[in-house]
Amino acid sequence: MRRAPFTLVRLDAAHHDRKAFDCRSAPLNHYLHEQAGQDVRRRIAACFVAIAADGRIAGYYTLASASVLLADLPDGASKKLPRYPTVPAVRLGRLAVDHTYQGQGLGGALLADALDRAIRSEVASYAMVVDAKDEAATAFYRHHGFIEFPSSPRKLFLPLAVAEKMG
Ligand SMILES: CC(C)(COP(=O)(O)OP(=O)(O)OC[C@H]1O[C@@H](n2cnc3c(N)ncnc32)[C@H](O)[C@@H]1OP(=O)(O)O)[C@@H](O)C(=O)NCCC(=O)NCCS
Repeated sequence: MRRAPFTLVRLDAAHHDRKAFDCRSAPLNHYLHEQAGQDVRRRIAACFVAIAADGRIAGYYTLASASVLLADLPDGASKKLPRYPTVPAVRLGRLAVDHTYQGQGLGGALLADALDRAIRSEVASYAMVVDAKDEAATAFYRHHGFIEFPSSPRKLFLPLAVAEKMG
């Protein structure tokens, strides 16, 4: 399979060509085209982009701080944690790959990069959390070891200690 080389950098809203990005999901396209720059400026989210050899944005993801109610975690996970009402987390708010690059490993590489950033952060987080937009996205995250919250199956988490062991 053809593999294009990518550079992973922070979104530079003034210089990266965001308009050409098309992952075939209107809300995820709209977010990069219209909203990501503002969210980055206001520190609502950090946005990282994979730049292809021709300078186009091939994929992106966002990270932000979050917290998880201990009561929302499955018993197996919550029993190992202190009895605080919430535990800290990192939210992978959005993850998308341009349709011309899908199925070539970029989505998996972006997810691995996001987990790596969360693990390396000096600010502690128990888990990465995601809100999957549909069944295909849920399957993608499950494939990568994420576990569904018992009360909301489209919301998933992966303890960072587990991600670290998975390498
Ligand atoms: C979901 C998405 C990010 C996946 O990116 P991608 O580059 O096509 O995926 P990759 O080629 O990197 O796949 C990585 C691995 O995930 C698996 N995978 C990909 N999509 C999958 C799915 N829907 N269900 C289960 N596994 C999936 C691949 O088989 C591959 O497995 P392997 O590493 O064991 O070989 C991409 O298809 C996309 O942007 N879709 C539209 C937006 C979207 O749905 N985003 C999800 C966030 S809500």
